[in-house]
Amino acid sequence: MERPFLFVREGMVIQHIRDIKLMQKRSLEIRQHGKSIGFVPTMGYFHDGHIELMKYVRNRCDLVIVSIFVNAIQFGPNEDFQKYPRDIDRDLKFVKQAGVDIVFNPEHKDMYPDNFQTGVSVGKVTKYLCGASRPGHFNGVTTIVSKLFNIVKPDIAVFGEKDFQQLVTIKQMVTDLNMSVTVIGRPIVRETDGLAMSSRNIYLSVEERKAALGLKKSIELAKRMVSMNENDCKKIIHAVKNELLSKSCIKIDYVQLCDTETLEPVEKIKQKTLLALAVFIGSTRLIDNCILDFGV
Ligand code: PAF
Repeated sequence: MERPFLFVREGMVIQHIRDIKLMQKRSLEIRQHGKSIGFVPTMGYFHDGHIELMKYVRNRCDLVIVSIFVNAIQFGPNEDFQKYPRDIDRDLKFVKQAGVDIVFNPEHKDMYPDNFQTGVSVGKVTKYLCGASRPGHFNGVTTIVSKLFNIVKPDIAVFGEKDFQQLVTIKQMVTDLNMSVTVIGRPIVRETDGLAMSSRNIYLSVEERKAALGLKKSIELAKRMVSMNENDCKKIIHAVKNELLSKSCIKIDYVQLCDTETLEPVEKIKQKTLLALAVFIGSTRLIDNCILDFGV
């Protein structure tokens, strides 16, 4: 028997919905009652970065919906889809502290039935950075996010800025396809020692965890160089790479300085320039970034 739906938040009542049609029905009802929906799409295995996103929408919308779906089609053949951490019971406990109303956790077979044939693909902004090293990744992301937007019908959707290119890509998709959702990026949440929070940090051994601090250290180095008026991107990239490579278990995927909107590589630091990093620490791929502000 279907439980009656509560439009007024009642303490800690969280609905866990797996069925796509039911989720669509709920979202329609919420909107028909004039209530706003804030949405946080995730692949689960929550950390405080996710919780910050949930709290952010909690303060702005009537209902908070979080999706948990490890999206197979955004992983490459040799990537970590199989071992990506999954623990729905842990996640359901975690979301209580964030005032979430509905957790939408569909099944792969329902999201991608046998006859599934459609993909959403964004152009230029997906060609650089992770788009270059992970072919097909962003098509997988934009396809699933479009599906989730159609199912959840959010007024606002928030994404972490750690996946800066993902955020830019989704904003581009929403603009190009006239989707009626406002996409908001939120700052990176870091551990106290500076490592950007990520569900993948759990893969790191003790040694690798120490080495991972090289990411933050190299970002700080770049910031220092820019604060001392260095604006030559080649020099900054060289210094950042050297800092990263001082840790023996780090392999660089890319270090790039680029325009914050088009993501095209730049040669001189402008007023705002994105420093984007991707490295392998052992077999774990981590990304990080910051905006460098020249002349500030
Ligand atoms: O950032 C993520 O967790 C995923 O890429 C997203 C946006 C949930 C799509 O699967």
